[in-house]
Amino acid sequence: MSKYEITGGNALYGEYAVQRAKNSALTIMSASILTRGEVTIKNCPKIADVITLSKIMRKLGAIVEWDGDDLNLDVKNIYTTRVNEKLSEQLRASLFLVGPLLARFKTVSFARPGGCAIGSRPIDIHIDGFKRLGAVMGGDDERINFFATRLTGARIRLKYPSVGATENIMSCAALADGETVIENCAREPEVVDLQNFLNACGARIVGAGSGVIRVYGVEKLVGGVTYEPIFDRIECGSLLLTVLSTGGKVTLKGVNAQIICNLLEKISNNTCKVTVYNDRIYINSSSRPCGFGNVVTAPYPLFPTDLHPQLIACACSGEGKTVLTETVFDRRFAYVDQLKKFGANVRVDGSDVSVEGGRLFGAEVFATDLRGGMALVIGALSANGRSVVHGVEHIERGYSNLHKKLGALGAQIKLIH
Ligand code: EPZ
Repeated sequence: MSKYEITGGNALYGEYAVQRAKNSALTIMSASILTRGEVTIKNCPKIADVITLSKIMRKLGAIVEWDGDDLNLDVKNIYTTRVNEKLSEQLRASLFLVGPLLARFKTVSFARPGGCAIGSRPIDIHIDGFKRLGAVMGGDDERINFFATRLTGARIRLKYPSVGATENIMSCAALADGETVIENCAREPEVVDLQNFLNACGARIVGAGSGVIRVYGVEKLVGGVTYEPIFDRIECGSLLLTVLSTGGKVTLKGVNAQIICNLLEKISNNTCKVTVYNDRIYINSSSRPCGFGNVVTAPYPLFPTDLHPQLIACACSGEGKTVLTETVFDRRFAYVDQLKKFGANVRVDGSDVSVEGGRLFGAEVFATDLRGGMALVIGALSANGRSVVHGVEHIERGYSNLHKKLGALGAQIKLIH
């Protein structure tokens, strides 16, 4: 177990290069299987989830190698469609391999994904989509198998705009016969990114980003594509909330402010000054955060659930009242008890998290999930005195070199293995 040793109280100054999106890279890696060729993901984030998915894909027969900051995938010789259960237990996103494997090989076997620290994480919407495309399901309470004599386009209405299910069904439908219409689908920018990647490989998909996606099945997709994912809007939001909390002046580089309007509005209505110029966001924070009032998490384009813990941590370090209602995941509150160790005045009531801002003091805390872990880093950076944040491996799943990037801004943070 690695840990961060952090001495809080420093304002942050300088430039921060935002990584490419974890949640694009993972789904594009999986979808590359459809091309039967080679794909390069430019500036792929070097994070634990990408490393774990690379291992899972190598066990399927793919060649996955880093070339500097680029990730080269050669999926010509996939020789099994049985997804390794041990490794996929560590990575919910391994589920995104199912659609592409089913589409290319008409058969796939994977471990029934368990719940995780943020919720039960069912996969019924994925399963229903594959069945609507003509796949037959088998297996037991450990593993799920799908096979299909052929995959045929269908009209599929999702009961909830699930990001993963939208992406899995899109990828599977790309090689199906005929047209698939996915209604009530997720509108996240990472879904648009996947559409753009698949179309660059020869797919014919339109509508991503709206509530209806149309996929016109094609014979095959081709490799030889180099694709750079969009910026990581959750890392960008995490940093904005960090600087709002610690104070300072930071330039976030390599971003597209257009796709995070809802977040920028919340932040710029607080006590800091936010300006946007081309692919940069400047944040100037010279006083403590005020309360955010009522915030509700919801599917894009509303406030993202993946910034819920970070916003709460920021609110705890400021003044005033915040009540956040979490509507996406049923159990994403483990970080709250840890925030209380900093002296935060925060409590959970059903799916509401209520905060009365105040002063925070150094503490020893334990991360149990990725975004909750980032919230604890924000708490520690804003607290007076020394803190220890255990469970850094959770945080490294989604943030590459976080301690080095924060240290370069003046944070006193050390990684202890
Ligand atoms: C993706 O997870 C992201 N992960 C999550 O980011 C993100 O929080 C989530 O979308 C919501 O935006 C990746 O892209 C790798 P969902 P996903 O399916 O696809 C329910 C992070 O920190 N649901 O949109 O698993 C589900 O239980 C991670 O980067 C069903 O009921 O999320 C949840 O309540 C965390 N049945 C809601 O939908 C299903 O078949 C949203 O889940 C699927 C989902």
